[in-house]
Amino acid sequence: MTAKIKSVFICQNCGYQTPKWMGRCPDCGQWNCMVEELEENEKAVKRPFLKGRPKGINNISLVSEMRLKTGMDEFDRTLGGGVVPGSLILIGGDPGIGKSTLILQAAERLAQKGLVCLYISGEESPAQIKLRAERLNVNSENLYVITGTCIEALFEEVEPLKPDLMIIDSIQSVYTDSLNSAPGSVGQLRETSSRLMVFSKETGIPVFLIGHVTKEGAIAGPKVLEHLVDTVLYFEGERGHLFRVLRSVKNRYGSTNEIGIFEMKDSGLAEVGNPSRLFLEERPQDVSGSVVIPCIEGTRPLLLEIQALVGPSPLGMPRRTTLGVDHNRISLLVAVLGKKMGLELGDQDIFVNVAGGLKVDEPAADLGIISAMISSFLDRPVERHLVMFGEVGLAGEIRGVSQPEMRIREARKLGFSRCVLAKSNLEGSASIKGMTLDGVETIKELYDILF
Ligand code: TYD
Ligand code: MG
Repeated sequence: MTAKIKSVFICQNCGYQTPKWMGRCPDCGQWNCMVEELEENEKAVKRPFLKGRPKGINNISLVSEMRLKTGMDEFDRTLGGGVVPGSLILIGGDPGIGKSTLILQAAERLAQKGLVCLYISGEESPAQIKLRAERLNVNSENLYVITGTCIEALFEEVEPLKPDLMIIDSIQSVYTDSLNSAPGSVGQLRETSSRLMVFSKETGIPVFLIGHVTKEGAIAGPKVLEHLVDTVLYFEGERGHLFRVLRSVKNRYGSTNEIGIFEMKDSGLAEVGNPSRLFLEERPQDVSGSVVIPCIEGTRPLLLEIQALVGPSPLGMPRRTTLGVDHNRISLLVAVLGKKMGLELGDQDIFVNVAGGLKVDEPAADLGIISAMISSFLDRPVERHLVMFGEVGLAGEIRGVSQPEMRIREARKLGFSRCVLAKSNLEGSASIKGMTLDGVETIKELYDILF
């Protein structure tokens, strides 16, 4: 008697299973994400477990960690200082953003150091990969390419090659024979990734997974994948902008929020060594609504320009449009301005933008945002050589933020000579030659200094 084949509906977002179709996943609340997959009647896949007996934590010997450095500083730093052997790293991003380009360039650097790199593509033919490689001037003899989608077959090829690094482009295109569901479904993602996880941990070979992002901006099957891997990097950028930002959102071997900045050129991605300069290059001089703020991204300071445009609204419900900053933050700052300063912006359209297409989510940007809005509202420019940072509280007080000195130094390096900051930060920062520091406690004081 043949076993009856049963099917289950699996949420493609979080992996929740139900025997019946549902419009909305009861677990994660996503709509239209239940996909029918065949249930495996045996729990077919045996997962080899890492061997060994429990050990006292003091008895675990630490082999000094040898990170593989590509020599691309922006890439290495985002990973926390290079690729850790045996780690599983996921790079997600929109189609066409440059994931394959980035990883091919990184692999080439390692291959040139004599490491054997294997690039597995499930999406492009070897000829297509070669075409891109020509453009990128990638030609190391240690870089191997194979195309295929069945993970069992691929493992057979990996065995004799014994690579030092492996890349799967993309994880959504590979599948395992032991499951019936289609490549890219949650079941397949979970199974193939966990096989690769076991593979990387057992062999010590670092594995890069390239992942596509859904239109909501998450890696397809995100929860499933992000929990499993050691490091999650997002490769992002605005279409039409040439900048690409590699951002680490999870890292078991380094700090998160670290970013690496690249520029897409004809011959591939170029590192941007001095991003602050680049972001300020096209800054208009002496116009209202433009303010420069020093942010900290991971371990690095970065100067950004905040632009605001405030003007009378023809609409009953004035517009609040933001790019790169949190919408709610703007509402909060507008409310503080109204209540504490008597500056009523309730009937004004407000647009706030971070120049260059970057995102800022630090509260340290508050001071810059609020000043840009006041400046545009009054149509009075902020002094050209001035930067500012600090958090604005609901009582109109200015609060200190972390690492003031690093921010001030970066501003000084780029030729700024005056900095407005929270009074509490003033004490923490040593005086820096050529930089005047103004400590403020309330937004009233800020207003008096600026306008
Ligand atoms: P690709 O790496 O194929 O993107 P992904 O793997 O994320 O889908 O890059 C695609 C885009 O990058 C494509 O629109 C062309 C552009 N590009 C360049 O501008 N210069 C280059 O040297 C290369 C290789 C690509
Ligand atoms: Mg690609």
